[in-house]
Parts: sequence; C-alpha cells; structure tokens
Amino acid sequence: MKNQIIKNDLKIFTKKFNKFFKTKLGKDKNLLNNAMLYSINSGGKRFRPYLVYTFGKELNLSHNLIFNLAAIIEMLHNYSLVHDDLPAMDNDKFRRGKKTTHYKYNEYTAILAGCALLTKSYQILSSKAFRLSNNKKIKLIDTISKVSGEKGLLLGQYHDLSIQSPSISERIEVNKLKTARLMSYCCQAVAICAGKNKNIENNFKKAGQYIGEIFQINDDFVDFPQMPKQDVEKLSEYKKILVNKIHQIFNVLELRRKQTFLLIDFLKDLKV
Ligand code: IPE
Ligand code: IPE
Ligand code: MG
Ligand code: MG
Ligand code: MG
Repeated sequence: MKNQIIKNDLKIFTKKFNKFFKTKLGKDKNLLNNAMLYSINSGGKRFRPYLVYTFGKELNLSHNLIFNLAAIIEMLHNYSLVHDDLPAMDNDKFRRGKKTTHYKYNEYTAILAGCALLTKSYQILSSKAFRLSNNKKIKLIDTISKVSGEKGLLLGQYHDLSIQSPSISERIEVNKLKTARLMSYCCQAVAICAGKNKNIENNFKKAGQYIGEIFQINDDFVDFPQMPKQDVEKLSEYKKILVNKIHQIFNVLELRRKQTFLLIDFLKDLKV
C-alpha cells in the first residue's frame, strides 16, 4: 500500500526513539517534572526526529548523534506546543487526543514545564553524552537559537497570533517562520554534525525548509476547513512547486536511500 514503507519505518524508529527520549528527563515525582513527562510522552508523531534520522542516515551519522539531535529538537518542539496551547495563545484544551498540559495541570505549571523543556534541550545539546566536537556544538547552539528565537519560530508565532485574516503570502511567511525553520534545522544540523561544506549544508537546510512549509500547509488544510477555495488551490499549487524543488535538491545532493524519497510522497498526503 502507498506510504506503507514509511509508515512501518516511522513506527519502528518511533519505538526506539521514545525509549531513548524518556531517559533524557528525570524521574522526580513533582508536578513540574510530571508535566514535562506528560508532554513528551503524549504520543507525538515524531516527524522531526524522523527527519533527523532519515537525513542522518544519508550522511552516515552515528546512532549517538542521530538520537541525541532528534531528542534536542523534539524537546524544543514540545515546549513550543505546550505554550502554543495556552489560553493566551491558541487556547486549546486537547492535543494528540489528550488534555493539553495547562488543562490537565494548570497554567503556571504548563508555562514552567514549557520553559523547562526548552532549557533541557540546550542542556542535552551541550552535554558530554552528545558526542560531538565543541566547535560543532557551538555552531548547532548558535543556529538553533536563531531558528527558535525572535527572528524565527517565535516571530512566526507572534505573526500567527496577531494577524487577523492572513493573505496567502502572509500565511506562507508565517509557515516559514513558525514551522519550517525548525524542520530546516533538522536537516541542516545533520550536515553540521557531518562536517559538510557550506554549500551542502545550505541545500540540506533548504530541503528541510520546503518540507516544513508543506507540513504546515497540510496542518492548515485540516485546521481551517473553511479556508477560501482559491486559497486552497493556490496553496496546493505552491505545494507542488515545493515538492519539485525538494527533488531537485535531492539530485544535487545525490541522496540515494529510497526512504528519503518515499518520505516526500508520505509528506504530500500527510494529514497533520
Ligand atoms: C504540530 O506539530 C505543530 C505544527 C507545526 C503543525 P506536529 O503535527 O508535528 O505535532 P506532533 O508532535 O506530531 O503532535
Ligand atoms: C504551532 O502551529 C506551531 C508552533 C508551535 C511553533 P499551530 O498552532 O498551527 O499548531 P497546532 O495546529 O496547534 O498543532
Ligand atoms: Mg498556534
Ligand atoms: Mg495551535
Ligand atoms: Mg494548526
């Protein structure tokens, strides 16, 4: 069946990743730690970790690097979701079929748990357990700070909350910032770990950026079923252009694994 290869591969990967991911948080029984564990164990798709795995495999990265890098990014992603659901932001009561963190615990616990997940991601990134040279780690830290900070994900979240009825181009800009930057990091970081040159690193970054844009367009199609028909058509056309660009980059990079190519087919149809 279509996409079955990726579904199976993602399932196997997710099982291994979840086991590893849990070990990155302590077992303290206080509510703050519980709230952090609640967020990371509540059944995310692990799409970002899977991107790290897929592209990491293309560059023969070690298990240690792939899993730690994936955990760093997923920890930060979970922070962004805990905060995204807060009453002051999207005010959502459910995520992944479960109560959101602030709804299950309370608002201050969710705010603190979100901040703690963000802090934890930097701790893993700078830890000895992540076996990478200090120079590469500094580059990873510098890049993730820009990707997730006030010129990246946070600016995207800011625009998303403050723009009332976004035009197509505003939507695309928000998608680039709030979602695609972190996905571009999944791919760029792999190239940084592998010590690739700037040109190759940029191509990985761009592929991840386009993947993230497609991902967020799919999410918006589900979240906004009343989106004007002409907007749906324009965004669907734009998605096709992005898919072509991704394939061009894969050719330039001479990527070879069939899973990498099948992942793009899987992404096209993904109902987020
Ligand atoms: C949700 O991301 C936020 C968006 C960028 C659309 P995911 O759809 O990857 O969330 P989980 O982690 O799988 O729940
Ligand atoms: C969330 O976007 C993006 C970030 C958390 C950075 P959305 O608000 O569209 O995500 P969902 O729909 O709540 O998962
Ligand atoms: Mg939001
Ligand atoms: Mg939301
Ligand atoms: Mg959404």
